[in-house]
Amino acid sequence: MRGLIIGGNWKMNLGTPEETRVHLKELVSLTRSVNNVEIVVFPPFTTLYLAKELTKGSNIKIGAQNMHFELSGAYTGEISPKFIKSLGCEHVILGHSERRDIFHESDELINRKLKKALQMGLTPIVCIGEHLDERENGKTKEIIQYQMEHTFRGLIKEEILKTVIAYEPIWAIGTGKTATPEQAEEVHEFIREFLSQEYDESVARAIRIQYGGSINPTNAFDLFKEKNIDGGLVGGASLKPDSFHEIIKAAERIHDLE
Ligand code: PGA
Repeated sequence: MRGLIIGGNWKMNLGTPEETRVHLKELVSLTRSVNNVEIVVFPPFTTLYLAKELTKGSNIKIGAQNMHFELSGAYTGEISPKFIKSLGCEHVILGHSERRDIFHESDELINRKLKKALQMGLTPIVCIGEHLDERENGKTKEIIQYQMEHTFRGLIKEEILKTVIAYEPIWAIGTGKTATPEQAEEVHEFIREFLSQEYDESVARAIRIQYGGSINPTNAFDLFKEKNIDGGLVGGASLKPDSFHEIIKAAERIHDLE
């Protein structure tokens, strides 16, 4: 059985030590008795170290929101996967649509980052998703397939198996407009079909695929109960410990049903 994974992507929020301390103290205590759900929080780089310290011995793992594709060098303003790893972080988000759209990250660049993250033993969470006009023009699957072909290029079976995929329709991110469970499930199923063709059936079945885009405590359960949805990547609703905890509880309920 694939485990459920809930990520809290803080984006460029809560990055001061004080904000991080207040938030994580509450979240650590709220999630103390959570079982069977993998919880990963992604704070800004400035508080990764502190976040690791604050979550020691808790149910919460800490990951990074981005990384560079080299381990060191003349890359002003960039963060090496080695630095992330040295803090004890296990996860890194790659190819978030905000990185793609605002910072012009291409599938090829994300592919380089992905290979380096895997080499470094980090678990990458690779985001893919279509824009609103692409969905409206019936191009969703075409876009998803293109992104997967280019982002995962050259990955062998053992590598893709260590990767988590996050399907995040861009029109649903931060907009309050969630994909319906049916819309999300259709794409998740398509992603597994692609993996089955590129690799094999066992790979398609084993890989965890999160949904992301305006998840909140009200819609989380219905999304997570879809057969091919293995939890979520949460932005806005992860900024408040209680709403994030409600979403984690929805995932726990799904686990208990299975
Ligand atoms: P949102 O963000 O939950 O605020 O829509 C999700 C994401 O960008 O991962």
